[in-house]
Amino acid sequence: MDKKKAIILIKKLRKDINYHNHKYYIENNPIISDFEFDKLLKELEQIEYNFPDLITPDSPTQRIGEKPIDHFETINHITPMLSLANTYNNKELRDFNNRLLKKFDRVSYVVEPKIDGIGAALVYENGLLVRGVTRGDGVKGDDITGNLKTIRSVPLKLDKIDIKFLEVRGEIFMSKSGFNNLNKNLLEKNEPTFANTRNATAGSIRQLNPKIVASRPLDIFVYQISYSDKIIETHEEALIILKKVGFKTNPLTKKVKDIEEAINFCEELEKIREDLDYNIDGAVLKIDSIEKQKILGSTTKNPRWAISFKFAAQQATTKLLKINIQVGRQGTLTPVAILDPVKIGGVTVSRATLHNFDEINRKDIKIGDIVLVERSGDVIPQIVKSIKEKRQENNKFFEIPKKCPICNTNVINESEEVAIRCPNKMCPARLKWRVKHFASRDAMDIEHLGFATIDKMIENNLISDISDIYFLALDDILSIEGFKEKSAQNLINSIEKSKNMTFERLIYGLGIRHVGKYSAQIISKSYSSINELINADEEDLKKIDGLGDKTANEIASFFSNDENINLIKRLIEVGVKTRKNQINKELPFKDKKFVFTGSLKSYSRTESSDIIKSKGGNILSSITKTTDYVIVGEKPGSKLEKAKNLGLKILNEEEFIMLIK
Ligand code: IVH
Repeated sequence: MDKKKAIILIKKLRKDINYHNHKYYIENNPIISDFEFDKLLKELEQIEYNFPDLITPDSPTQRIGEKPIDHFETINHITPMLSLANTYNNKELRDFNNRLLKKFDRVSYVVEPKIDGIGAALVYENGLLVRGVTRGDGVKGDDITGNLKTIRSVPLKLDKIDIKFLEVRGEIFMSKSGFNNLNKNLLEKNEPTFANTRNATAGSIRQLNPKIVASRPLDIFVYQISYSDKIIETHEEALIILKKVGFKTNPLTKKVKDIEEAINFCEELEKIREDLDYNIDGAVLKIDSIEKQKILGSTTKNPRWAISFKFAAQQATTKLLKINIQVGRQGTLTPVAILDPVKIGGVTVSRATLHNFDEINRKDIKIGDIVLVERSGDVIPQIVKSIKEKRQENNKFFEIPKKCPICNTNVINESEEVAIRCPNKMCPARLKWRVKHFASRDAMDIEHLGFATIDKMIENNLISDISDIYFLALDDILSIEGFKEKSAQNLINSIEKSKNMTFERLIYGLGIRHVGKYSAQIISKSYSSINELINADEEDLKKIDGLGDKTANEIASFFSNDENINLIKRLIEVGVKTRKNQINKELPFKDKKFVFTGSLKSYSRTESSDIIKSKGGNILSSITKTTDYVIVGEKPGSKLEKAKNLGLKILNEEEFIMLIK
């Protein structure tokens, strides 16, 4: 390739990559697969490798720096990054407004979620990102330019911008799902976990190695133009410009005409707080008029033109009563904190995760301590820290168990892992989890087969293996306390129905280590039956795009175990479907995103999800503005309100049935 051609190609590839990056990370609406995206990036990398003098700092290949740095430079902010004065109730908000009404006839506001992350300032010169600085002490912060570049929602180059010098401010954060995944991965690698999304954000953005930062699921919402050489009249206009030039702004932002509307929106935000995949700890009210903002100015600490409305705390202190041990599906012993029940955000919390035994030492937690507990939505309640000042002398250290608390077998501590495991494959605790997982909604979806029932089945020697559930007769179930003719028959029916679940669900249901729903989906695309999968060797599995080496290794080892092969044989014998459906060539819902709220009368959630998936659609758990259809059944949750606010397409059960037919 000659240089002239390389220049043209590089330009096109960068434009395409930036476009798809924006679609994926900012609009949340990708239109090509990750594989196709990586192909574009690899192509660009190759050309830049051949023509290194054509590499520019804003090239998408330059997001991740080569070398770790040894420290962060300190940089003074252009203007101090102030904090916001807090209010905790509607009266305080009205007082704030009344003070302003002494100065102005009318005040309209923009209300935004207050994102719980780390504040940062980003400087763009002629549309190019030149600097990123943490809030620090407000006057000076750390130069985190290299790390910021790794965040895919941070534009390296702005689109069609006529501002020569621009400083924007925003909040770097981590989604709740990203946080849960990160902690899971850290646990597997025997590294300390984070107590909450905010600590995870702070800990990640301050890593000296940009490769580690890039692997952390960081994101950013930009909320302010703090300096620009263009005259901007309102905050609303500033947000529109920010979005137009390529920043990610928060979609739940609303311009309101007065304080009462502002209060209503604050209340709405607090209601949907748990449904969001990121933590917000309040709402921010900002006077819309920049002129009025300038007249009001700031105190040394806070602007006088903005205020935050803090939501009820998601943290509380309580006593750690004892530490219980749970034995998981793979035999792993996990400590669970049993707490003096405490209300956090309207929910009573009486248990919190301790992740593993190292964590107890790391956090220096003793039984009887007063601990700070945090919960938020889908994040399992976590112990942030122990309050040392309140520790009593006789509070005891927790002793790591030597035996499995369920079957009394000596536990083992595998060399590179932190986890302590019960090696007894027949341990009732392990069997219970395996059956529970197999029967779970995302796997074989066997209704009416809950923990209590499985426990009793094990106790009564009715099952000693997953496949045994398919050999249960009506009388066996009737022998379990609490079952009557009708409920027993219902359970038999659900078990029978599960024989026809999809191949993907079966793979997930087997509970192979590291094989989650996503891996199961990938595997089911590469193999058409369980027999094919059993015969695949590790090297074949490793070649599957999107499947990690560790997972491939676990799958191969699962199927090299005779007990597991026997289990599969028995499942085949009882008539469980172990192969893929013929692919439905017509995919009318290809790439369409569906969200359910409430329950349908004609279909279970599993059935309706499978129908949508078989037609190429995707089911998502939360609503975003790119959701295509929101299906509303009986007793819908707050998602319905949110869908209405976002103006999404909402279908009731009848309309949904029409659509799928
Ligand atoms: S405005 C002078 N808007 O909250 C204007 N701040 O206590 C101050 N924050 O340091 C910032 N979401 O890091 C603003 N939508 C939002 C915000 C937000 C989160 C953080 C920010 C700031 C702190 C203020």
